[in-house]
Amino acid sequence: MWILVGALAGCAPDGAGPGAQADGSNAGGGGAASLAAGAPEHFGFGTAASEARIALWDIDVKPDGEGLPPGSGSVADGRQVYELACMQCHGPTGTEGPNDRLVAAGDWDPWPPGRVFGAYWPYATTFFDYTRRAMPQATPGSLSDDDVYAITAYVLHLNGLLPEDAVLDAESLAAVEMPARERFVPDNRTGGPEIR
Ligand code: HEC
Repeated sequence: MWILVGALAGCAPDGAGPGAQADGSNAGGGGAASLAAGAPEHFGFGTAASEARIALWDIDVKPDGEGLPPGSGSVADGRQVYELACMQCHGPTGTEGPNDRLVAAGDWDPWPPGRVFGAYWPYATTFFDYTRRAMPQATPGSLSDDDVYAITAYVLHLNGLLPEDAVLDAESLAAVEMPARERFVPDNRTGGPEIR
């Protein structure tokens, strides 16, 4: 609404568009109080979302691992799924592309690092969340949770962050320490503590 009011104000010769007040509020805005007399409060479209439907969308995983589903996957299984579902866009070793690099351990220095998962992302759990919701790009949501654990394990292994015989589940994934973890600092609005 701020943008709309600004745009309207920009068009008006005196700098005040329809409904725009000097204090930035919008007297003509769409609050319930301004419904035309006799307008219905609801139009009867749709139905309330059921718990089951909400659960299908409620898949976010937090940095500390909260929200990770049951299941597990190994580096070895991840290699197979990666080659089927990811390699054509991210390259045989996660570095060749044509799309984003996924592998670049130790590339933090010199500042700033390439924003590659292995070197830059502070939490491994974000890789699980992102892959499950957004990849493979043409068919997101097509992978099982076990597949996503396995791919996560494999890509962490390619980054040198997990051994070849590793198996990931909710607990072990949340315990992975990314190299960039301590490089991010809370923004204290004064520039933050010095970046290491
Ligand atoms: C059809 C091509 C394609 C396939 C297949 C694909 N990706 Fe991607 N991936 C992309 C593109 C394009 C982006 C960049 C998306 C963007 O920036 O919005 C991307 C971005 C990513 C990123 C974020 C990278 C970053 O640093 O921001 C991750 C992680 C990722 N993909 C993982 C995977 C995994 C894991 C698979 C296999 C399950 C996969 N992708 C399969 C095309 C693909």
